Amino acid sequence: MNKILNDIKTNEHKIVKLILSDSSTEIKKIIVRPIEIRKQKLWQIEKFEGTKVFHENVSIQEVLDIDFSVFKQICVQKTNEESIYCKTKSGYKVKTNEKQSKIGNLSNNKAKNYLINEGDSVPAMVDLGIFTKEGKIINSMYDKFKQINHFIELIDHTFKSSKMEEITILDFGCGKSYLTFLIYHYFVKMKKIKAKIIGYDIKKDVVKNCNQIAQKYGYNDLKFELSDVSKDELYKGKIDMVITLHACDTATDYALDFAIKNKVKYIFSVPCCQHEINLSIKKGGDFDILMSDGLIKERFSSLLTDSIRTEVLRSCGYSVDVIEFVDFAHSPKNLMIRATKNSTKKTLNKVKELQNKYKFNQKLLELVSDN
Ligand SMILES: C[S@@+](CC[C@H](N)C(=O)[O-])C[C@H]1O[C@@H](n2cnc3c(N)ncnc32)[C@H](O)[C@@H]1O
Repeated sequence: MNKILNDIKTNEHKIVKLILSDSSTEIKKIIVRPIEIRKQKLWQIEKFEGTKVFHENVSIQEVLDIDFSVFKQICVQKTNEESIYCKTKSGYKVKTNEKQSKIGNLSNNKAKNYLINEGDSVPAMVDLGIFTKEGKIINSMYDKFKQINHFIELIDHTFKSSKMEEITILDFGCGKSYLTFLIYHYFVKMKKIKAKIIGYDIKKDVVKNCNQIAQKYGYNDLKFELSDVSKDELYKGKIDMVITLHACDTATDYALDFAIKNKVKYIFSVPCCQHEINLSIKKGGDFDILMSDGLIKERFSSLLTDSIRTEVLRSCGYSVDVIEFVDFAHSPKNLMIRATKNSTKKTLNKVKELQNKYKFNQKLLELVSDN
């Protein structure tokens, strides 16, 4: 094993790719590649676990900390050669072949993963402080850029082959509206779909600033309104999509309820902090073990909240899936509830039974039960 680690350590600058395969654990394969983020060399780990693939960017030390010994084959690809280590009863046997491979432009490797890339002309991103005037991503905004880009990519999966000519979208709790502007850019500039978008927020200054930026670029169909989504009257026309990105606490529930009541076809919602269930739930059955420790109770409550939201959507005729929006390491608020209206309705009996047993409050459940 030391031989492999030494090979990686001493040839770090020459490594093009590491492929660790055939393990006896859940993780079947790991591919490691050098990448550059914010002018810093890092290593992208691509982990194949069951049917899922996870990505993580780490330091060389974290690469060396991987338990290589569980893999039967380890391939170390360098610029000039490839060493294949195969596990035998007496340790790893190595076979080295000469092979010319290029490391390539590391920063380009990073950029080509995105739908919207550094250098693309999205002028509002400069005003919002994501891009410099030269179109470079501002270092401190890199994570935000990655997050909103991924949101757009998930929307793109749904709309890739769409023949829609017009779309109306509401963004609940739009905040500084990085996502709202990028969605406008995606539909209007990239997809050439006429998009009417309204962002709602309770913060006067952000609403004013976003309207000024939209007006500066003549985005007449992109508007921001000062509204409390829990009580103010919102847009009344036909709405095709509701989005939320970290809309605080129950603002997400008001958005989902609004979408349900207005028969909105598409919902993309990444919930935020959620306090209601954590504060109200009482012990009452098999789940009591999850309520003895504060941290576990908080996480359980958060998962229960999102499970209830998905069940309510299903009970109102939506097909729903929950996907990991960004790596957990990047943000723990990383679940996206993606829903599309269809006609099949599921009952909410199981959820109501749970609520009777554990006596919790949940805003969306309350809002849809008010009908
Ligand atoms: C964490 S920020 C997220 C902003 C933005 N979506 C993003 O991801 O960058 C949550 C936003 O929701 C807004 N918000 C919270 N409760 C709201 C409500 N009841 N009505 C409208 N906006 C609300 C806050 O003012 C804040 O700007």
